[in-house]
Amino acid sequence: MKHIIEELEKRRANARLGGGQRRIDTQHKRGKLTARERIDLLMDENSFEEFDMYIEHRCTDFSMEKSKIPGDGVVTGWGTINGRVVYVFAKDFTVFGGSLSETHAKKMTKIQDMALQNRAPIIGLFDAGGARIQEGVAALGGYGEVFLRNVLASGVIPQISIIMGPCAGGDVYSPAMTDFIFMVKGTSYMFVTGPDVVKTVTNETVTAEELGGAKVHTTKSSIADMAYENDVEALLQMRRLMDFLPSNNESGVPVLPTADSANREESSLDTIIPDNTNKPYDMKELILNVVDEGDFFDIQEGFAKNILTGFARMEGRTIGIVANQPLVLAGVLDSDASRKAARFVRFCDCFEIPLVTFVDVPGFLPGTAQEYGGLIKHGAKLLFAFTEATVPKVTVITRKAYGGAYDVMSSKHIRGDVNYAWPSAEIAVMGPKGAAEILFRADSGDPEKIKMRIAEYEKRFANPFVAAERGYIDDVILPRDTRRRICRALNMLRDKHVENPWKKHDNIPL
Ligand code: HXC
Repeated sequence: MKHIIEELEKRRANARLGGGQRRIDTQHKRGKLTARERIDLLMDENSFEEFDMYIEHRCTDFSMEKSKIPGDGVVTGWGTINGRVVYVFAKDFTVFGGSLSETHAKKMTKIQDMALQNRAPIIGLFDAGGARIQEGVAALGGYGEVFLRNVLASGVIPQISIIMGPCAGGDVYSPAMTDFIFMVKGTSYMFVTGPDVVKTVTNETVTAEELGGAKVHTTKSSIADMAYENDVEALLQMRRLMDFLPSNNESGVPVLPTADSANREESSLDTIIPDNTNKPYDMKELILNVVDEGDFFDIQEGFAKNILTGFARMEGRTIGIVANQPLVLAGVLDSDASRKAARFVRFCDCFEIPLVTFVDVPGFLPGTAQEYGGLIKHGAKLLFAFTEATVPKVTVITRKAYGGAYDVMSSKHIRGDVNYAWPSAEIAVMGPKGAAEILFRADSGDPEKIKMRIAEYEKRFANPFVAAERGYIDDVILPRDTRRRICRALNMLRDKHVENPWKKHDNIPL
């Protein structure tokens, strides 16, 4: 028996060495961890159980039968994160550059199938050179099998992708169909075709970083949701994120103990709105003051900064927050902000995460750039997403709620469950100045008269009471009571049950 155990230990040690010490050293020199080091940081200590450690490819082209490495470029298995089961696969760049072969794909699909069947989240760590070039079409088939499972699992279990090195060709489309993509600054990049192909086809000269680095994807393309400084920070942030996410679409949100009282008054909120209604304030500060222990997990912080999206907790239970940010473009809704928030709202609705919406929006952004760019359809995405959502929806209008944007931002009319307004709220078709200039065009030559008209319009509409008189607002609340009122509303809505009419699926304006 002893020699059998020794043989097992030898085989394990050999498999754990992946592509060998030289390639591991190269990985470290580039500031990257190996696949197994990453998994160790991501999972609870000693919780990871690896599957298929001894699998080897079956390719015989290009003399591949002579170079076989156990594991075949991907480490797969399951473990726990803060006690909850999570499935994981991590591309091993030290083995054939983490490239995907037929057997490599089989390892991935086995884990995908288990995650879906057992209704637990799956996290993929990417660091790879795409399809295994020596295998050709067998690798393409493997990608197809992975994609299929991404789609079937969508909306059932959370799927998270972390890009920690190259991610190109076939590798990009699997992350693109998952719920969130995170990147590591400086060492990760994502593109369909790399700089060499770009040069050949379009004659553009561009570096990998410029084409698909973390900065590009978190600020320009919005492909990635957040970027972190290094592997360690990214993995620790994923542990933090997992504490916000439900295990599946039927499990309900995780509940964490909190020392933050639901009755906490926050008197600083009484003065957060400036006297001048055109002056900005930081909506993030408001959010941090309201949620449990000021803990807010930003999603897409660097993109469309005029809207904030992210996870927080109230009384220990996860909520999704959508909030206009008056600090950027006065919090206006444009195409990017609408797309960003729509996708976030849909994630929350899939996974039964209640939505809390803070509104301070002067309307949709006017202009040819927006209209030519499809503002109508992009704005409709957010309208559609909030409307179809059946999770508990609590809305607080802090200041402006003008025009169509009022309707869109989780208003009563599209099934907002509890809609509050602060006394500083202004709910109207448009701002008083614009309204007076249109209604009283004949007075436009007389600045004194126009000033009077603006004041008249302001007095009538720049308050929450016209909407409250109609029941569009359930109550006008004191800013300092916001946390308490939201907590109470969410408790009251805990067992909300609403069903949309049966359909195969809806047809959101993509
Ligand atoms: C097989 C690969 C590989 C691949 C890398 N390697 N990519 N082996 N198939 N796709 C191997 C290398 O031979 C090398 O082996 C090791 O991995 C490290 O690669 P290097 O090139 O030395 O590393 P680096 O300089 O860091 O460059 C990394 C890289 C580059 C940028 C990823 O390797 C690269 O461009 N690879 C090819 C990318 C690509 O075109 N893939 C196909 C995409 S098409 P040794 O033994 O020397 O360590 C595709 C279609 C699918 O994916 C579509 C489905 C829808």
